[in-house]
Amino acid sequence: MGRCPQCGEWNSLVETRLAAPDKSGRAISQTKPQKLSQVKSIKRARMRTGIKEFDLVLGGGVVPGSVTLVAGEPGIGKSTLMLQFVAQAGKSSSCLYVSGEESIQQIKIRAQRLGLKNQETLFLTETNVDSICTQMSELKPKLAVIDSIQTCWTSQLSGTAGSVGQVRESTAKLLKVAKQEGMPLFLVGHVTKAGAIAGPKILEHMVDTVVYLEGERFGAARLLRATKNRFGATDEVGVFEMTDKGMMEVTNPSRLFLRERVKKVPGSVVVATLEGTRPVLVEIQALVVPTTLAIPRRISQGIDYRRLQVISAVLTKQLKLPLATFDIYVNVAGGIRIDEPASDLGVALAIISSFRGIPLDPKTVCFGEIGLLGEIREVSQTAKRKKEAKKLGFTQVISPENFTSVNQVARKVFFKK
Ligand SMILES: Nc1ncnc2c1ncn2[C@@H]1O[C@H](COP(=O)(O)OP(=O)(O)O)[C@@H](O)[C@H]1O
Ligand SMILES: [Mg+2]
Repeated sequence: MGRCPQCGEWNSLVETRLAAPDKSGRAISQTKPQKLSQVKSIKRARMRTGIKEFDLVLGGGVVPGSVTLVAGEPGIGKSTLMLQFVAQAGKSSSCLYVSGEESIQQIKIRAQRLGLKNQETLFLTETNVDSICTQMSELKPKLAVIDSIQTCWTSQLSGTAGSVGQVRESTAKLLKVAKQEGMPLFLVGHVTKAGAIAGPKILEHMVDTVVYLEGERFGAARLLRATKNRFGATDEVGVFEMTDKGMMEVTNPSRLFLRERVKKVPGSVVVATLEGTRPVLVEIQALVVPTTLAIPRRISQGIDYRRLQVISAVLTKQLKLPLATFDIYVNVAGGIRIDEPASDLGVALAIISSFRGIPLDPKTVCFGEIGLLGEIREVSQTAKRKKEAKKLGFTQVISPENFTSVNQVARKVFFKK
């Protein structure tokens, strides 16, 4: 049935396999409750993957027996990253890479393009999850990658591969083997445009760690972000650059994001933001032009649209800018998304700069949250941000430390009063 006869909702029915009932009808428990003091503590050595940014996001390496979901939109580079990953990890131990999406030949072509040399890793093209589990228990690899979980299916359910029931059941089976063998397992999952159905969202509670690979499709920057981690913090972000040689680690993200900056043009402002615990400088661009519409346009890329509306409202009120008759476009260069309120001041200055047609000093960097009354609010990690700015040759900092309101900054910077 595609539609629930009770509530009328479409595609809400999920196929589930029933466990065979015990003959006596009484469950016999093999495990007994115990005190923590009775539990033997074992030290789990983390395995280094050889890709530093990946280790960072995982919390310092791969934990034995952990299950990690690597999620992202199709074509963003998940397979590329995982292939590089097994090639690195495969240098010291045996890995298993199961692909349900590409043929062995395709994988070989990709490996050649990426220049990966690796003797130990075994490749398998298989989608039947029961066969995959058998292979995993027999081969006992040090690590396994399943690309992707949406292609896995079991004959115990009748739904097609990729349906919620199949994805969930397949994950449960793989999880069991991984925990039994103490083998780290990586599941690749596609984020579907349509939303949560059959996407990685339904798996998030089953796995230990969830990392998202994100970025603008046509930009080169890729961010690897942990949204859940049972073995580490979730505030670290790995930065990569997608090239024809694969995903390259970016040790200095600010350089990548400021690479194409045009200096001394109105509407461009450099902001010191934080990605995880790491300071990153990015360029915010604004374009303010007279509107031809009754309701002016507000278009944003890389920052929250509502944030842009709030900031333009504040500027209209506090600086008496007639923004109601202007369209505003705001873009974060380099295809990165900033959700941090510390970018507010950058957005505001970029808008004023474009509106007034006055460029900012190219050696200026700014950060600070803007309140509804136009006040500039404190943000965390001020020292780190300033240090990064100094390292990249910026000499002037506009921050909550030296300005209290956006009005004050505008007067100082654009009106020279
Ligand atoms: N020959 C090539 N040269 C350069 N980049 C390529 C080439 N082939 C594929 N790519 C890049 O790799 C991306 C596909 O990455 P892939 O790892 O398959 O994504 P996913 O597994 O997330 O769907 C493409 O979007 C493209 O940017
Ligand atoms: Mg893929």
